[in-house]
Amino acid sequence: MTTILETKDLTFKYPDGTEALKGINFKLEEGTMVALLGHNGAGKSTFFLHFNGINEATSGSVEIEGKPLKYDKKSLLEARQKIGIVFQNPDDQLFAPTVLEDVAFGPMNMGLPEDEVRQRALDALEKVGMSHVANKAPHHLSGGQKKRVAIAGILAMKPKVMVLDEPTSGLDPNGASSIMQLLYDLNAEGMTIMISTHDVDLVPLYSDNLHVIVGGQIIKSGTCKDIFSDPEVMEEADLRLPWIGQLFEKFDKEDGIVFEEGYPLTVGDAHDALLKRITK
Ligand SMILES: Nc1ncnc2c1ncn2[C@@H]1O[C@H](COP(=O)(O)OP(=O)(O)OP(=O)(O)O)[C@@H](O)[C@H]1O
Ligand SMILES: [Mg+2]
Repeated sequence: MTTILETKDLTFKYPDGTEALKGINFKLEEGTMVALLGHNGAGKSTFFLHFNGINEATSGSVEIEGKPLKYDKKSLLEARQKIGIVFQNPDDQLFAPTVLEDVAFGPMNMGLPEDEVRQRALDALEKVGMSHVANKAPHHLSGGQKKRVAIAGILAMKPKVMVLDEPTSGLDPNGASSIMQLLYDLNAEGMTIMISTHDVDLVPLYSDNLHVIVGGQIIKSGTCKDIFSDPEVMEEADLRLPWIGQLFEKFDKEDGIVFEEGYPLTVGDAHDALLKRITK
């Protein structure tokens, strides 16, 4: 595997003295789809904003494709074309008079020909299901629509790595699933994807590569099973099991009905485990 992004002993202190990141050693492998879990204030957004130099490390370093990130204008522009970050709050990202112009801004800044800029913006809007609001003012959109348009804005730049800070927050259930499916498909086409999320029900459906952050430190990395079967990590990170896993935990704890596979984390796995039991 090739490491596309790495942080080495990354620390970050805000001007008011808050130590938001405390020595993070992290590797993002090319072609993977990875999720970062952590409670409010754990440091997810602060961490992501280091990936393309929006935040500059207090100490430690960020490396993109093995090269330390530099903070001069040219290096930052290059980094931001490679590593696209969708902010947690779309209002921090959207600013153009119309949605189409907003989504076109990134590719336009890359100096692409006008036709291609327009095509990329239209394609990106279609992918997130927002073609019908192309001519609207971004500030007139609903929260979920803004979120999708913000994703389109980064998508249109076709970055190598797409980093999304809570991409499903504020989306309706089908909207959240369709955005996750879009990310899954982009990953299947080769894009490296990293998201932060609180949505423990959706995560196991789309990624088996998780990192858990608490108090500015990554306390565990592993598969969904590794994380969700570790009670200490679950408690420290204030995580809960997916609802379907909680059902099987109840069977185990209250009825002594144990499934050898452990607690299923998706409806599909639960279905398979039950079917196996019923037809045994
Ligand atoms: N501009 C800032 N100035 C000072 N402290 C900040 C600033 N932004 C964030 N923090 C602090 O840094 C820590 C990490 O915040 P961060 O926003 O990275 O958390 P998060 O994991 O993204 O949380 P959430 O799930 O709520 O989005 C928190 O203690 C927060 O209060
Ligand atoms: Mg955040």
